[in-house]
Amino acid sequence: MPEQTSVGIELADVTKRYPGSREPAVDGFTMTINPGETTIFVGPSGCGKTTTMRMINRLIEPTSGRIVIGGDDALSLDADDLRRRIGYAIQQAGLFPHLTVAQNVGVVPGLLKWPKKRIEARVEEMLSLVGLEPEEFLRRYPRQLSGGQQQRVGVARALAADPPVLLMDEPFGAVDPITRGNLQDELLRLQAELHKTIVFVTHDFDEAVKLGDRIAVLGDRSRILQYDTPEAILANPADDTVAGFVGAGASLKQLTLLRVRDIVLGSAITASVEEAPSSVRQRMATEGRKFALVLDNRRRPLRWVHDRQLGGASLAGIGRPVGDVVSTQSTLQDALEAILTEGGDAVVTGPRGEYAGTVQLDTVVAKIRELREEHQS
Ligand SMILES: Nc1ncnc2c1ncn2[C@@H]1O[C@H](COP(=O)(O)OP(=O)(O)O)[C@@H](O)[C@H]1O
Ligand SMILES: [Mg+2]
Repeated sequence: MPEQTSVGIELADVTKRYPGSREPAVDGFTMTINPGETTIFVGPSGCGKTTTMRMINRLIEPTSGRIVIGGDDALSLDADDLRRRIGYAIQQAGLFPHLTVAQNVGVVPGLLKWPKKRIEARVEEMLSLVGLEPEEFLRRYPRQLSGGQQQRVGVARALAADPPVLLMDEPFGAVDPITRGNLQDELLRLQAELHKTIVFVTHDFDEAVKLGDRIAVLGDRSRILQYDTPEAILANPADDTVAGFVGAGASLKQLTLLRVRDIVLGSAITASVEEAPSSVRQRMATEGRKFALVLDNRRRPLRWVHDRQLGGASLAGIGRPVGDVVSTQSTLQDALEAILTEGGDAVVTGPRGEYAGTVQLDTVVAKIRELREEHQS
């Protein structure tokens, strides 16, 4: 299996029958996992996610079927050798309690007989990568870390030997929601840089939508109910079971996948603070608008003014201050949030805080409709 480069994974008719069980835990699983992407297995507890994932690195030996990783037949490789070439991170991190953080992260490079200096350098690099200051954490033991820090060390360990494939089994399942959100953001950042082939197991559909390039929704015995992009699954769930799993608010979840830059921005009537109120009122009347946006002399949004407020001699100090603004990188969910809290169009600003346009409620609604129709045809 080549290191560094992205590799794809093929599973063909893979079945696992545990000794003494009448039903197979995984029944004829066939899937192509794209190189360099994050593929999520999502499904209810006991449906066979862990069993399916662990057959990829042969922590569980398949009863039958074929698994090909980066062109190599995984079942004919030496199992220990295979496992050292696949990163593996699990819930509660699974760190060795009697080893320091440095020793934990260095485990696989050690097994691969890397020189000591190279391991030390790599361990420090990995800790920094996952946001842990090496000097502070190298010599600690797992029990001296918070749950979130342990998970970070777990990810650092999985990445240490620079494996092309990373298996992650509910790695953030045991931490509080805020820490989980941070760890998810971190993983997105890492993956944008590393482009590993990641197989990530979760029972949380929202986590799947946030992290996945592709999502496999699994039912009993790992039957694939739907395998597609998050956008396509949200817009068009394959059946009632998937729809139930997607949960209420599929349209709202789609908003987290879209960015302000994906839509056509609206434009407000804008005015500089120096402009005479009467002239602004005239422009508003011509365009049939009730509100105008007052900008400072660097074109940064200050206040919304209503045409009834334009009787005075100056624009200074009148109107309602602009609160929440969004950028072109913001999600449409952020934009909708701003629309709701502001009670009107959301203001979009550019890199220096300058006015760039507006997001209107109608545009957001139309975008969701458009996506749904696109995925249904
Ligand atoms: N070692 C085992 N021996 C027998 N049955 C097992 C074993 N591990 C898991 N199972 C069974 O296989 C099924 C799938 O389990 P698992 O893959 O852990 O599901 P998930 O990760 O989706 O929760 C479950 O019914 C579980 O009870
Ligand atoms: Mg599991």
